Amino acid sequence: MNILVTGGLGYIGSHLVSKLIDKKFSIFIIDNLNNSKRSTYKILKKINPNIKGFKKIDLKNKKKLLNYFKKKKIDIVIHMAGLKSVSESYSNVKKYYNNNILGFVNLIETMQKSKIQKLIFSSSASVYAPKISSAIKEDDQLQINSIYGFTKKTIEDIIFLKSKSLRLNYIILRYFNPAGCHQNGLLGENPKGTPNNLYPYIGDIIKKRRKYLKVYGNDYKTKDGTGARDYIHIDDLVDTHLKSLQRLFKYKNIQEVFNVGCGKSITVKAVINSFKKFCNFKIKFKYYPRRYGDLDKIYTNNNKAKKILQWRPEKNLKDIALSTFKYYNK
Ligand SMILES: NC(=O)c1ccc[n+]([C@@H]2O[C@H](COP(=O)([O-])OP(=O)(O)OC[C@H]3O[C@@H](n4cnc5c(N)ncnc54)[C@H](O)[C@@H]3O)[C@@H](O)[C@H]2O)c1
Repeated sequence: MNILVTGGLGYIGSHLVSKLIDKKFSIFIIDNLNNSKRSTYKILKKINPNIKGFKKIDLKNKKKLLNYFKKKKIDIVIHMAGLKSVSESYSNVKKYYNNNILGFVNLIETMQKSKIQKLIFSSSASVYAPKISSAIKEDDQLQINSIYGFTKKTIEDIIFLKSKSLRLNYIILRYFNPAGCHQNGLLGENPKGTPNNLYPYIGDIIKKRRKYLKVYGNDYKTKDGTGARDYIHIDDLVDTHLKSLQRLFKYKNIQEVFNVGCGKSITVKAVINSFKKFCNFKIKFKYYPRRYGDLDKIYTNNNKAKKILQWRPEKNLKDIALSTFKYYNK
């Protein structure tokens, strides 16, 4: 089975590729290295013999994409390539529109030409309308809250609309907050430029690149006043892709959406404390005013993924802290 992972050298993509170890898989990666490094490919090749090649291709370049697909016989595409900063998406709308939406249009048109009818797409919790009090379910209201969220929702809509004419089998995974690193300490989240997420910020502190963590707001309606998110260990997140692959190859007419999160709301303070408790590492922090638009809590109800994908998150905050510390402290 030939699997193409777009964005396969990025944070989530590299962890996924490292775990696609079933002997029947042959893995191909394309990435434009916008937010990743070629050295990650060398690490992956050592971990997983199923990896058959990496090609530097930008999804915006349709001609290159078409040429690539002509030479390969791909059975399924796992589409992870994309820009992911909410704040940058506001200041650079065109960049996000071109990269995420037009990049995807090129990909789906190329898949159509090559008669590839299986797709897993990395979507995001950012497609949901803000919900104050309870866990988010897949059929909750959707709403555009950012340009980044707009690109994710638009890609989902294109998938929904095109799925009939393409006879596309797809699974859309709406990630909440992936966190943690590979147990070998060699793969982790290593963004170019300023990190967008909490854990890479903490990574900067572990690496002594930053002195303290900025904690935005301490008067949220949570148990300690700091904002709460649904941090899911990268291994558990990757596992939903392995289950999705099985499902797409076992059954026909699969057109499904799943939320992927641990199902709990975890505060920033709890994350900070986990490093003290499990790694004996004290994170210095300072409170800053709340950021506009940030909600008290965002977390998922993950029952649908548990039931249909037969999946369970196995790891916890301790595993996230330990693997993060190991990766950044090396
Ligand atoms: N990490 C998160 O918190 C999170 C949450 C929800 C959804 N997602 C989505 O999951 C996917 C993977 O996220 P990640 O955290 O691994 O991000 P990442 O930036 O580490 O990885 C994305 C990869 O895609 C590549 N890429 C970007 N644009 C490309 C293009 N036009 N052509 C080819 N390659 C391109 C980048 O170089 C990078 O290697 C993204 O689509 C992201 O929006 C991530």
